[in-house]
Amino acid sequence: MVCLGNICRSPIADGLLRKKVKEKNVTFIIDSAGTSGFHQGDPPDERMIATATKNGTCIKDLRSRRFLKCDFESFDFIIAMDESNLEDLLEIAEKKEHKAKIHLLLGPITNQANGNVPDPYYGTMSDFQDVYEIVDKATDTLLEKLIFIQKNEPNQPI
Ligand code: 4NP
Repeated sequence: MVCLGNICRSPIADGLLRKKVKEKNVTFIIDSAGTSGFHQGDPPDERMIATATKNGTCIKDLRSRRFLKCDFESFDFIIAMDESNLEDLLEIAEKKEHKAKIHLLLGPITNQANGNVPDPYYGTMSDFQDVYEIVDKATDTLLEKLIFIQKNEPNQPI
């Protein structure tokens, strides 16, 4: 799960997926990172932690880190929160098979038209709640799709 700072959008996507994976008793390795190193080592934004907590998801133990080239080898799916993150990732990726791992969260992988998870950093608490709801819905569909792929076509790129 990748955004710019790895303190607002990708941590909530990361935390929601970790929670859902546990609830469904399935096995996936979930992580998140930022395309910038602006907040390296920081916990998620306190407004995102508060919104997550209010909605029953714990993200306070996550820490921001910069996306690394080796993440393209470590992970099968690299999910960008918005089109700017997607473009940055496509630029970092050197191999065709790495570029093929990059998807927009709001896009075909979640059966949606391409769209951006809005950046709430300069917004209000209501913007953080909107992000929570958008990402909650999208990660439901994403996890369903990942479970299907793991079960039926584990070696197929989508
Ligand atoms: P995120 O939000 O990419 O969802 O973590 C942001 C966090 C920090 C900044 C921008 C966006 N920043 O400019 O520091």
